[in-house]
Amino acid sequence: MNSLTNKNIILGVSGSISAYKAPDIVRRLQDLGAQVKVILTEGGAKFITELSLQSISKNKVHYNLWDEDAELSMGHIELAKWTDAILIAPASANTIANIALGKANDLLSSVILASNAALLIAPAMNLKMYQSHALQDNLLTLISRHAIIIKPESGEQACGDIGIGRLVEPLSIAKQVAKQFISTKLTGKKVLITLGATIEAIDPVRFISNHSSGKMGMALINACIEMGASVICIYGNITTTLNEKSNNMPIISAQQMYTKVMNNIAGQDIFIACAAVSDFSVKNTKNQKIKKDGKNLILELIPNKDILADVCKLGKKPICMGFAAETQNTLKNAQKKLKNKGCDVIILNDVSNTDFGSNVDENEVVFLSQNLNKKIAKNSKKKVAKKILAIFIKEYL
Ligand code: C5P
Repeated sequence: MNSLTNKNIILGVSGSISAYKAPDIVRRLQDLGAQVKVILTEGGAKFITELSLQSISKNKVHYNLWDEDAELSMGHIELAKWTDAILIAPASANTIANIALGKANDLLSSVILASNAALLIAPAMNLKMYQSHALQDNLLTLISRHAIIIKPESGEQACGDIGIGRLVEPLSIAKQVAKQFISTKLTGKKVLITLGATIEAIDPVRFISNHSSGKMGMALINACIEMGASVICIYGNITTTLNEKSNNMPIISAQQMYTKVMNNIAGQDIFIACAAVSDFSVKNTKNQKIKKDGKNLILELIPNKDILADVCKLGKKPICMGFAAETQNTLKNAQKKLKNKGCDVIILNDVSNTDFGSNVDENEVVFLSQNLNKKIAKNSKKKVAKKILAIFIKEYL
């Protein structure tokens, strides 16, 4: 399945009567999962308004190379870095000539020069203009630079002529953009991942937590996003950077993580419980800081609900992967967890050796399921995440 999940697309709209189809192209790109930002050329603005493209794309329309405000927020270099592909639809003869010449005289041509992203061009113009030697030479030049030309269709044209030059239908254009990206079995799948450490308050300044960094979970998120999945990330305390392409939801306590997961789990294909969830919370959290008085302080801890086990009990449960950090009888304990929690996969993490596991950059794990017991050798968490997902895809998708 081709999809544009997690992809950022710039749509360049230039001066052609078929610019009226641009909002529909934005919609079709969004339907396939893309974030779309529109660059309107001077000619394009004669046929379609900035307002309609802004309303549909839900993003500011960019059109002025010399806009100081835009340069402060997202100028041409930032736009070039942001995008995964640039689509020009409709592409006028003038815009095509401009790009073929490598000019940088407006925002669209400057962004194209500054970007390594795939370039797709959907010409739309009168058939005589389309068939002209100059236009065809320009297209050949662009093809030689690896641009993809979405060849116009034949039919009745706005000017009354009949022949080639009509803009291809928006859905077909969007599908051709999606084809530029490799699709995997995770493409279009919905994945919910928990990660990081939960924090259980004792009083307003003290808490119970653990050493989890969230790095393993984040490596899984990054790999899922790279493979085209749409990811919800429910995170506690982490010491790693979030991926801005996932839907990131912060929580503090185990109870908050439980509620967030349960409120978002419907419709998810895969649940990965990578968080180090506190097994207990403090029974009577104090509203004021506890004062020391020289005597022992006894805290009563009550068990937290097991998020993974409860997700596994859902009527329409996603495929569930849990993590088990163990220090002794590691395999036996992890197998017990697989069975007791009712999940499909447990990733066993032997934390008796402190070189591995939480808050470090490398890991060594065992992929456990009912039929599988596969060791994944010590490597960076990024590589381990990819190996976990490769086995997971082979076994479950
Ligand atoms: O039982 P244990 O805490 O060792 O299980 C670890 C696995 O269960 C991890 O995947 C963790 O994210 C998940 N878990 C959970 N909710 C809890 C405790 C653990 O989802 N309250």
